[in-house]
Amino acid sequence: MSAKGLSIIELEKVYPNKYTGDVRAVDRISMEIQPGEFVTLLGPSGCGKTTTLRMIAGFERPTGGDIRLGGESIRHLTPDRRDTAMVFQTYALFPNLNVYDNIAYGLKIKKLSRQEIRDKVTGILALTGLEGLESRHTNELSGGQQQRVALARALVMEPGVLLFDEPLSNLDAKLRVQMRTEIRKIQRAVGITAVYVTHDQAEAMSMSDRIVILKDGKIAQMGSPKEVYYHPTSEFSANFIGTANTLHGTVESWEAGALTVSVLGHELAGIPCERDFKRGDPCTLIIRPEACSVREGGVFEAKVTLSTFMGSYQLYELDIDGSRFTVHENNPKTKRVYEPGETARLHLDIADIHVI
Ligand SMILES: Nc1ncnc2c1ncn2[C@@H]1O[C@H](COP(=O)(O)OP(=O)(O)O)[C@@H](O)[C@H]1O
Ligand SMILES: [Mg+2]
Repeated sequence: MSAKGLSIIELEKVYPNKYTGDVRAVDRISMEIQPGEFVTLLGPSGCGKTTTLRMIAGFERPTGGDIRLGGESIRHLTPDRRDTAMVFQTYALFPNLNVYDNIAYGLKIKKLSRQEIRDKVTGILALTGLEGLESRHTNELSGGQQQRVALARALVMEPGVLLFDEPLSNLDAKLRVQMRTEIRKIQRAVGITAVYVTHDQAEAMSMSDRIVILKDGKIAQMGSPKEVYYHPTSEFSANFIGTANTLHGTVESWEAGALTVSVLGHELAGIPCERDFKRGDPCTLIIRPEACSVREGGVFEAKVTLSTFMGSYQLYELDIDGSRFTVHENNPKTKRVYEPGETARLHLDIADIHVI
């Protein structure tokens, strides 16, 4: 397979609408995707994920910008001439064809020899775990198996980039988790470039080399799962990836990469911070639920509003002067567990606080 790099340059899509005003679905986004990279477009419904993907595939015409695959502009090519393949949420299989013929369909259109087709399809059947199901009709398959056929049908074309639009949304929770590992494994094994669209942050985190967080047709942040989780650049990103507690404070001092902030009537010193701040500047502290705990000696007094045993952790919700705070206390078996209505103290791991 020859994985290609994908360049998206100032890509724009405006849907005209006389009545409500034009919809700027994709607002001049740019990104470079490396050959073999797995990039996920993540964002809430309506942020422009599908429109972006459909412009890459050629189903939608951009109103501005360019798309280059393997260094060449594909903007003016019809979908069948683009060296892209798409896996849809609805599978879009041919119901009148069996599994083998569904997968072989594109190769037949390309007029490959019978033997070549047989070799390629056999290889893909093994890769996607569909061996033995060749002669089944698609209505004799489970949802997971249908999704595998859709994936196989795209992979067999050996496209320069493989596109996925929420491919796991129709599967039950357990199968979804299983399939995301599987898709990632197959993508790695064949080394294909992939652009994956989802609104599910867990899917994005577990599958991607890089995540692109979209908001209102613009890129809110782009980075590896760890970067976006530990270093969100906005409250929007912080809340979209995982759970985030947000505290608004005022800078007391900034020195040698350590910040002192006054927040909710307390001073927190030694918060790591690369950025320059001045005394009196407002700042936002992002604290992940696992970077704090409920324990004696904690800085903030809090009211426990929820306490739920989750097995590996105790889930707390706390109220601090009207601000809601979520805490994951690991291995609760070894700790004092607080009940709703109790007063407790919240401790923050200062080194794990992120400032924006
Ligand atoms: N064919 C269309 N005509 C007009 N507006 C559209 C069309 N397709 C999508 N939109 C609008 O563009 C925006 C982005 O949609 P979409 O790309 O489907 O978002 P997502 O996939 O992230 O949910 C939305 O406001 C949507 O209503
Ligand atoms: Mg969509």
